[in-house]
Amino acid sequence: MDGTKEVGLRNVSSTCSISEMDDFDLSRLLDKPRLNIERQRSFDERSLSELSIGLTRGGLDYCEITYSPGGRSGLDTPVSSARNSFEPHPMVADAWEALRRSIVYFRGQPVGTIAAIDHASEEVLNYDQVFVRDFVPSALAFLMNGEPEIVKNFLLKTLHLQGWEKRIDRFKLGEGVMPASFKVLHDPVRKTDTLMADFGESAIGRVAPVDSGFWWIILLRAYTKSTGDLSLAETPECQKGMRLILTLCLSEGFDTFPTLLCADGCSMIDRRMGIYGYPIEIQALFFMALRCALSMLKHDTEGKECIERIVKRLHALSYHIRSYFWLDFQQLNDIYRYKTEEYSHTAVNKFNVIPDSIPDWVFDFMPTRGGYFIGNISPARMDFRWFALGNCVAILSSLATPEQSMAIMDLIESRWEELVGEMPLKIAYPAIESHDWRIVTGCDPKNTRWSYHNGGSWPVLLWLLTAACIKTGRPQIARRAIDLAETRLLKDSWPEYYDGKLGKFIGKQARKYQTWSIAGYLVAKMMLEDPSHLGMISLEEDKQMKPVIKRSSSWTC
Ligand code: GLC
Repeated sequence: MDGTKEVGLRNVSSTCSISEMDDFDLSRLLDKPRLNIERQRSFDERSLSELSIGLTRGGLDYCEITYSPGGRSGLDTPVSSARNSFEPHPMVADAWEALRRSIVYFRGQPVGTIAAIDHASEEVLNYDQVFVRDFVPSALAFLMNGEPEIVKNFLLKTLHLQGWEKRIDRFKLGEGVMPASFKVLHDPVRKTDTLMADFGESAIGRVAPVDSGFWWIILLRAYTKSTGDLSLAETPECQKGMRLILTLCLSEGFDTFPTLLCADGCSMIDRRMGIYGYPIEIQALFFMALRCALSMLKHDTEGKECIERIVKRLHALSYHIRSYFWLDFQQLNDIYRYKTEEYSHTAVNKFNVIPDSIPDWVFDFMPTRGGYFIGNISPARMDFRWFALGNCVAILSSLATPEQSMAIMDLIESRWEELVGEMPLKIAYPAIESHDWRIVTGCDPKNTRWSYHNGGSWPVLLWLLTAACIKTGRPQIARRAIDLAETRLLKDSWPEYYDGKLGKFIGKQARKYQTWSIAGYLVAKMMLEDPSHLGMISLEEDKQMKPVIKRSSSWTC
């Protein structure tokens, strides 16, 4: 710890290019009372370069956004709106009320938020549970509002669940697996509360949630960063929890790629959608979780070994993704002209992608300026679809280089109608139709074209888009998206997703009062109001991970 207190301006200016900060109210950032949380150097500034695997030390250019936690201001008043002089949007109060109604208690303590409270829906399925991934935006909203208790309880409860023995039929799952969701069962007669968790053994399709463990680590860092309370992450339990999650991913085997091999349905897209293999959503979360863990793991005997493996993996992973997942106009043109059947390490077309497999839509979709990480890559298979979560997390974790981050934002701007339309934000683009839909989804009636995971629009993604916009210094894009959401979300009772090419229709089977739609909106609003919140969910570029990569036209902007 160096105890340095930093003021907002320098920090923010290193996040956003000044020329594009016209939408920021810098004076507000400066005037805001900064609580004296001491910056935890060991947490924030531990770089790959400081670790003992023979890397040379480079200049550290960490963007420290000091957090200004609000004190608790009574249950119903959002701190964020109370401390600002301007009137908050009327939706904000409504959203807070709905978010508080979704809180789940275990033995009197708040431990999470239920996925949806939709009284009108006949089928509850598992929407009455606390999903790990769904709780993330809720947690961020509470942290930003100066209410860390529920987040701490959630982290501890899920850590406890990780310790359970997990079986599907006669097969035992890895020790580190975190649940997709859990439920609190209240017995009104005996006055007892018990927990029930789902690690994939009850989930539709029986897939374990690979993203849960990563979100858990990311949230632990957000909690630590936001509260300045190092003691939770430093407990032997949390240290072990992180190591167990990462042990699942860092083991050596038959892999030839540093990316993580996954089954379909192992993440937010939790049913068959052709994302098996190396989906960008998981790879970006994996990268971010590795970096977060690196900042929190202790250098004790067990920690050290894990840290060394993390550092090596981060290098390989960032190189692989930045090089092979990246697609822009130039890269598309290169693939279009690929030779096939090349043998040996001199091959240019390493994965033997056949140019004929490039779908027609990509040629129209790709702007001359802009680019994105494609959905998946494995031998002879490139999934050219755009996935919002993976691309936003790539920006937040600095898996994307600054140039790539800018290019992703350029793409969102130039393909606004396709990716945002009337409701932010498309989970994936484009939809799969007809014969492809039959083959890829297995005729899934919930995932018909432009619905649900198949090109549906998910309001929850608004917080990720907003965070990415702030990080790249383009808050005006977030503002535009939030304005769109504000015309519909409350009126439509906070749907889970919207359908249609433009996202105009409330989703066919969408739940109402979907908690992460509510929390996602609040987080987006609070971040735009006070960009210093970004620090809890964003990591600055590590200069040691500069890619060796060809430049292409969209990078020279
Ligand atoms: C759906 C979504 C999943 C989410 C869950 C609870 O299954 O696909 O991502 O976690 O609902 O909201």
